[in-house]
Amino acid sequence: MEELELYCKKLRLGREILEEFEDIEFINNKDFLTQILKKSYQNLEIRRKNRRIRDAKFEILKTFENFDSKELDLPETLNLHKLKTGSFIEKNENLIFYGGSGRGKTHLATAIGFEACNHGKSVRFFKVPTLISELLEARETGNLGKYLKKLKKFDLIILDELGYVPLGERGAELFFQVIADCYERKSLIITTNIEFSKWVGIFMDKKITTAILDRIIHHGHVVIFTGSNYRMNNALSNVNS
Ligand SMILES: Nc1ncnc2c1ncn2[C@@H]1O[C@H](COP(=O)(O)OP(=O)(O)OP(=O)(O)O)[C@@H](O)[C@H]1O
Ligand SMILES: [Mg+2]
Repeated sequence: MEELELYCKKLRLGREILEEFEDIEFINNKDFLTQILKKSYQNLEIRRKNRRIRDAKFEILKTFENFDSKELDLPETLNLHKLKTGSFIEKNENLIFYGGSGRGKTHLATAIGFEACNHGKSVRFFKVPTLISELLEARETGNLGKYLKKLKKFDLIILDELGYVPLGERGAELFFQVIADCYERKSLIITTNIEFSKWVGIFMDKKITTAILDRIIHHGHVVIFTGSNYRMNNALSNVNS
């Protein structure tokens, strides 16, 4: 390995700089070094951002770019700018997205998570049943503490599809533990098609349901997705065309 390549590797400057340095125009040595360090830093930031997006484990990557906000009805406490910049994350606030199928809940939650990654936040996306089965497995193998500790490193946790599948008694308890750990420390985005008054049907226990709802709603913004069903509209327009 050539010396230059070797030290780029040892300093973790990335391969890009080896491809870019010959095209740099500079006035003097100091200018050259400044530009090299600047480019290396920019490349490092891109790598970090890509890693955050990978670690978020979004199911399907959706962004604001192809999100139509015409039918989005935000509460007074929110606006699109706040969602895009993730200012609610700084304040450890939660978002609860409620509405029928195909209304864009998962799309918007993912787009917010993606933007948060771009702004340096660490994000983790879960379908609720996946989180529950990982929690149950961690508990069975004696790794629950470690698993919960790992969750604590995220700034924003997206819990998609709450209530679509029953959680079971143990699942509900573990879900509560995650919510309690996040309360006033992290931000959550929860998507659901079950209205609050019926959440007891998800957790099957009145006390746990109240405790969960209390913690989620205390610093939470509820967004009701009343718009039309995108999946249906697209399917119908495909059939008709
Ligand atoms: N406002 C929107 N702008 C652009 N595409 C949208 C919008 N709303 C929904 N879609 C698209 O429609 C499809 C369904 O949306 P999404 O998965 O977000 O629905 P959902 O509300 O999460 O439904 P479910 O409750 O069944 O999970 C996706 O492909 C999504 O990208
Ligand atoms: Mg969804």
